[in-house]
Amino acid sequence: MSFLHANAMTGGYGTGADILHDCSLTVQKGEIAVIVGPNGAGKSTAMKAVFGMLNLRQGSVNLDGEDITHLSPQERVRKGMGFVPQTNNIFPTMTVRENLEMGAFIRSDDIEASIDLVYELFPAVFEKRNQNAGELSGGQRQQVAVGRALMTKPKLLMLDEPTAGVSPIVMDELFDRIIEVARTGISILMVEQNARQALDIADKGYVLVQGANAYTDTGANLLADEEVRRTFLGG
Ligand SMILES: Nc1ncnc2c1ncn2[C@@H]1O[C@H](COP(=O)(O)OP(=O)(O)OP(=O)(O)O)[C@@H](O)[C@H]1O
Ligand SMILES: [Mg+2]
Repeated sequence: MSFLHANAMTGGYGTGADILHDCSLTVQKGEIAVIVGPNGAGKSTAMKAVFGMLNLRQGSVNLDGEDITHLSPQERVRKGMGFVPQTNNIFPTMTVRENLEMGAFIRSDDIEASIDLVYELFPAVFEKRNQNAGELSGGQRQQVAVGRALMTKPKLLMLDEPTAGVSPIVMDELFDRIIEVARTGISILMVEQNARQALDIADKGYVLVQGANAYTDTGANLLADEEVRRTFLGG
């Protein structure tokens, strides 16, 4: 049994048409799984479904052997999910440190060790700890967002386009940090627009098209697949 097993998810927003069609995703312990696909394919919707922000008409979500299909997002955080959404993922008028403290909202134990771990992982976050998060560069904000999600000590970290709008150098750095996080045993489920680079660090890749699984394979195999390259990776 996979650590995360989202099985045959079908559903959409409110009473609207289904966006996801039989969409399945699995992530093993410590594995990096990457979702790629065209704009509007339903990548963010799939992430929201896994996190409990979408009412599924069919399908289930299992985490660590437990059926969590009917749990709220907050309950899923308690079960070990951390989620960094694609947009509005920091509190811009709060300081960087306050953002990290907010991330720990469900915890009642001492959070200093977790804050120190985030500062170690992202030295820039430490340097800017007393500044308002809204004053930071795009790359630094994404680091704050990832750091905030780490504050609940997740077992599965879900990242929706963590490198959106950052330079190639900052992207490489962020990917290196994500690899570091995965090596500590945390599973990663990540949506990425930078498909080649992301599949390059992925243990497993999913190509999503119109809310359905189009291709699933190791990152390396997807990068080597002629059809996938031509259709989704620009040749
Ligand atoms: N809150 C919402 N209410 C209704 N429909 C939505 C909502 N969010 C997204 N959609 C629709 O769901 C479909 C999938 O959108 P989604 O944001 O999941 O795609 P995506 O693959 O993440 O795209 P992108 O690469 O642009 O981030 C689109 O048709 C979109 O218009
Ligand atoms: Mg999206």
